[in-house]
Amino acid sequence: MTKFMKSAAWRATAMAAAISAFGATSVLAEDITYVSGAVGNAIDNFKALVKPWEDATGNTVTIVPMPASTSDQFGQYRLWLAAGNSDIDLYQTDVIWAPQLAEHFVDLTEVAGELAKTHFPSIIESQTVDGKLVALPIFTDAPALYYRKDLLEKYNLPVPKTWEEMTATAKTIQDGERAAGNADMWGFVWQGNAYEGLTCDALEWLKSSGGGQIVEPDGTISVNNPNAIAALELAKTWVGNISPEGVLAYQEEEARGLWQTGNAVFMRNWPYAYGLGNGDDSAVKGLFDVTTLPTGLDSTTSAATLGGWNVAVSKYSKHQEAAISLAMYLAGPEAQKQRAINESNLPTIISLYDDADIAAAQPIIPRWKDVFLQAVPRPSAPTRGKYNEVSSLFWNAVHNTLAGDGTAADNLEELEVLLTDLKGGESW
Ligand code: GLC
Repeated sequence: MTKFMKSAAWRATAMAAAISAFGATSVLAEDITYVSGAVGNAIDNFKALVKPWEDATGNTVTIVPMPASTSDQFGQYRLWLAAGNSDIDLYQTDVIWAPQLAEHFVDLTEVAGELAKTHFPSIIESQTVDGKLVALPIFTDAPALYYRKDLLEKYNLPVPKTWEEMTATAKTIQDGERAAGNADMWGFVWQGNAYEGLTCDALEWLKSSGGGQIVEPDGTISVNNPNAIAALELAKTWVGNISPEGVLAYQEEEARGLWQTGNAVFMRNWPYAYGLGNGDDSAVKGLFDVTTLPTGLDSTTSAATLGGWNVAVSKYSKHQEAAISLAMYLAGPEAQKQRAINESNLPTIISLYDDADIAAAQPIIPRWKDVFLQAVPRPSAPTRGKYNEVSSLFWNAVHNTLAGDGTAADNLEELEVLLTDLKGGESW
């Protein structure tokens, strides 16, 4: 057991919980239920991740796996929380949910005070609603453009800087590889399903094209503008051309699946795909690198949507103190380091960006610090309790456009009307 673990706040919390709940003489083990959606091998790794906490406290953790789609998770969690479900102690929560679910979670401001100071302040702030720290960050997220080094070299083409250049390069290499006998080759894979992931991808197209961020930080609905329209029209040309028609049903894992068989030149995905892409079972091991997403119409701005995951303690939990201790452990340096090394997830603890073991195992991590620090947040703060509806109206307008159901101009005009209705006045 390391020095940190002996002295760690999560351990002190666990001990205090055991003593106050059961009396110093009869410390009973508790089983903590943790619900989480996941991509990659996060569920498989979870057992090993929580083992040090289980060993130190005598408690056990049961993970309840949820669908990979954050939108599906949100729907389910909202039902459970509204019903005051006491079977679930901890929820793994998306960065965008804090304002919508805050009332159901325990305030961690005091207990996590010292630990919170070791995290990036902006991430702690994203989980703070009306002065209440509703969840503790366990990793942050900002996407990359994954590219095949070997193919760019073979065709003597540079790493593309703009979306137009990426489109042209993807097409050249796709056509060349198909002519050379690989009929399954595609230029670009991404997340086109009608869900939160499409909101992330499309926000990047808009923002990098000078088309704003759907709803601006001051609450203004900005989505219906010429640059946003042009960005969506370009993305539409990808479908069936450099991206399979099926991309309209792709989430993160479908994009990674095709990429890892070696049948894509470019992929937009989050850092979790980096470690997996270099795994022994990956056809692209050692053949790819990452760069920032391309710039758009104004040719200067690259935009990455800010993602990330947290752990929140349910107000309805019957094991609150042990659950808080587990949350502190998962948000602490040991667990974050393990997650960084095994899953190439970006830590939220500042010092881990100088950790030599992490840099050696997953070189993307130190490189991605500035990318996530400059990432664009989705408008979950200004639209507060209405964010989920805002996002689903947006991803539907985008999905319809990509599927050829209405032009970008018509769909964004209609979206503006719907969002204005939803806002229902001066403020959200
Ligand atoms: C990633 C991000 C999360 C986002 C999701 C969309 O998991 O971390 O914030 O909502 O992708 O699919």
